[in-house]
Amino acid sequence: MAAAVARARNESNEPCFTVVGVDLPNPLGLERIEAINAGRFPFTTVDPRLMAATCEAVAVGNLRATTDASAYGAAEIIIIDVNLDLVREPGGPTLGLEGLRRAVRDVGAYMKPGALVLVETTTPPGATAKIVAPELTAALHKRGLPADAFLLAHSYERVMPGADYLDSIINFWRVYAGHTPAAADAAEQFLSRVINVKEYPLTRLASTTASETAKVLENSYRAVNIALIEEWARFAETVGVDLFEVIAAIRKRPTHSNMRQPGFGVGGYCLTKDPLFAQLAARDIWEHTGLEFPFCRQAVAINDAMPLVSLDRLDELLGGLAGRRVLLLGISYRQDVGDARYSPSETFYLEAKRRGALVTCHDPLVDHWPGIVEDLPALLPAAGGFDAVVFAVPHREYQALDLARWLGAGRPLLLDANNVLTDAQLEAVRTLGCRCYGIGRGVIA
Ligand SMILES: NC(=O)c1ccc[n+]([C@@H]2O[C@H](COP(=O)([O-])OP(=O)(O)OC[C@H]3O[C@@H](n4cnc5c(N)ncnc54)[C@H](O)[C@@H]3O)[C@@H](O)[C@H]2O)c1
Repeated sequence: MAAAVARARNESNEPCFTVVGVDLPNPLGLERIEAINAGRFPFTTVDPRLMAATCEAVAVGNLRATTDASAYGAAEIIIIDVNLDLVREPGGPTLGLEGLRRAVRDVGAYMKPGALVLVETTTPPGATAKIVAPELTAALHKRGLPADAFLLAHSYERVMPGADYLDSIINFWRVYAGHTPAAADAAEQFLSRVINVKEYPLTRLASTTASETAKVLENSYRAVNIALIEEWARFAETVGVDLFEVIAAIRKRPTHSNMRQPGFGVGGYCLTKDPLFAQLAARDIWEHTGLEFPFCRQAVAINDAMPLVSLDRLDELLGGLAGRRVLLLGISYRQDVGDARYSPSETFYLEAKRRGALVTCHDPLVDHWPGIVEDLPALLPAAGGFDAVVFAVPHREYQALDLARWLGAGRPLLLDANNVLTDAQLEAVRTLGCRCYGIGRGVIA
């Protein structure tokens, strides 16, 4: 978002905004700040436009980063985009609201009266009105300023990490809402300068709670859609049907065009937590009991366990995992993305190790998997010597792999857990006489 705001230009082609990114003075925050100030996008991306936009903004001088919260004092517009985590506790998850509260207090301690505070964090519905607004009111009151001297709005990100990362912010529809009509107008004015609203008009909702609800419902819908396919994948494998072919046929029907497909699991920072936000908001922000959200909770549980389905299949195909040498290809939660947070590969890897498998992991976009594997190979390991290769993430590098060359004389079992292998690769597998199994397909060769 910082890169998107910094690249906005007025009619004279001058930057519309000077952007200062504020992060915490912890190792992660400092690493990100240092990268941005050096003109580098702070984490691995395959989007050249995002890298160029960051580099150009720093060179032009309208993007810098700091740990100094007093920077809020110079801003007309303050975007809050901090993380808001689920705290996973034995008694069930709870909302980790303290980080958001802290960020809002920091903003309130320095902000100019009347500034626009735009919450872009994915928040549990009600958080902007019932947590952010009271925190800002209290902070301004403490400074002897009018308690309502802020314009508060919410607009959620639909950013899609990957090859079109920057584009997914600028050239995409946005939803927003204001805590007051004046705040909604200010948010609209701001977003209209950053986003290509001519082609992607904004949608204003009636309240910040409605905007927050839209975000978590949007992601819950997707998580449930993914989970639904899980039981059909098991059925298809059992009766010998290629579910990808079936779904491609169903998707021709316009009402069903976004049907999900079988896969390795659901990871990343959003779909693993957002479907649980509404229930927790109902209970902890709105004090309503009895809204249980069984679909959302079940979807998250099914999606969390999905990588174990692939593992069980591998276990069965190999006749046990103890002592088996397994190559796991793909660690990130999504293709062409270097983000390994809550990735299905983590669940798979840890359980495979627990069952005695000797697992080597590789990902062309992840060089650091803290706390899980410290020494990831930079290059794709040779296939020889492995009993099985699991294709977990459809990164471009894996789909461009010449299987005949890479496999050489080796004939490990291939498990395509996420529709990674292309038609040409599947053809090669058949020709080579490799044993190959596909999640959602069954025996391929
Ligand atoms: N990553 C995605 O693809 C994506 C997509 C859509 C929405 N979102 C939402 O956007 C929000 C941010 O996600 P992210 O992936 O960038 O998370 P992140 O954890 O990578 O980044 C959040 C940053 O905020 C910083 N931070 C926390 N408290 C702070 C404070 N008080 N002051 C200054 N900085 C502070 C953290 O140090 C961290 O660097 C989340 O609500 C997420 O759900 C993310």
